[in-house]
Amino acid sequence: MKTALVGPNKNPLPAIVVGTMHYDELNTKEVCERINYAMELGTNYVDTANCYGKPEGLVESILGKTFEENPGLRDQIVLQSKGGITFYPDGRPYHNYSKEHLMKTLDASLSRLKTDHLDYFLLHRADALWEPEEVADAFDTMKKQGKVLHFGVSNEVPYGIELLKKYCTVPIELTQMQFSIAHADMCVQPIATNNHDFYAVDRDGGIMNYCRLNDVTIQAWSPFQYGFIEGCFMDHPDYKEVNDAMQAVADIYGVSKTTIAVAWILRHPAVPQVVIGTTKMKRFAECCAACDIKLTYEDWYNIYLAAGYPIM
Ligand SMILES: NC(=O)c1ccc[n+]([C@@H]2O[C@H](COP(=O)([O-])OP(=O)(O)OC[C@H]3O[C@@H](n4cnc5c(N)ncnc54)[C@H](OP(=O)(O)O)[C@@H]3O)[C@@H](O)[C@H]2O)c1
Repeated sequence: MKTALVGPNKNPLPAIVVGTMHYDELNTKEVCERINYAMELGTNYVDTANCYGKPEGLVESILGKTFEENPGLRDQIVLQSKGGITFYPDGRPYHNYSKEHLMKTLDASLSRLKTDHLDYFLLHRADALWEPEEVADAFDTMKKQGKVLHFGVSNEVPYGIELLKKYCTVPIELTQMQFSIAHADMCVQPIATNNHDFYAVDRDGGIMNYCRLNDVTIQAWSPFQYGFIEGCFMDHPDYKEVNDAMQAVADIYGVSKTTIAVAWILRHPAVPQVVIGTTKMKRFAECCAACDIKLTYEDWYNIYLAAGYPIM
């Protein structure tokens, strides 16, 4: 398993992260099986969030029950959760980064997860009304209370991270961004700048170069989705050309297209970790196999071009 060196101490963490957004479909025995299998494959990093599953907290509760039924399991994993998204009684989501809300969210997550601490806590999606001083204060308190060891953000622009860092005493070690072959604008924009109208538009403030410059690790989420988690592009008829290109590259390495989809992401030097959402163990293993492959420039750009991105 490849590792990513995360945070100021360059903590070596697995490149493949177990994503649990769809774990509401599983029972605790199945969850335990998947976590143990992931560890056999070399990754013990599990990502979740307060908002995964309905009602709020369902996936965290399933994970917590899994830990309760399997003593010692929690301590073997790097546990990451996210907060800041909350819900009206009718189910509509909104964001709240107030200190009071973040502390309450964290305590609820810890209680559901049946653990006294998270290894990583991330702010899930930017809150328009946030006061960065308050978030920094919340992080400080979480750290002092021993409830969170490390911190990060998600779907945040560089100036948002800078604003937070202005007040934070703890380092902002990582961010999660949506990134896949079919959703690659953040790496296309620097190539298209000054030339191609659509792709030249900077929609994320140059997050990839920012993160490399500031040692913020990017975790790619939804590595198999197009649009905003609209569907999987693997074998999708609208993505035939890129599927054919992936298959051609897969044939060169003697692996599956699933492996190549993850290898394509990990080949980008700004994205050392991928959060995998499949509930299928075979697919998860194919994703881990991406760590053994380094695509050549020719392979990487072949897939890039087949996905319809501009080059010159
Ligand atoms: N920070 C954020 O804002 C954010 C947002 C969304 C997600 N996330 C995190 O990222 C993780 C991954 O996101 P995701 O679940 O949307 O991503 P994904 O890994 O791109 O998609 C997984 C989904 O695609 C399906 N799928 C179909 N064919 C597949 C194939 N050949 N290979 C792999 N998957 C295939 C899977 O079904 P099967 O289960 O049947 O394989 C599963 O439903 C989440 O679990 C969550 O932890 C973070």
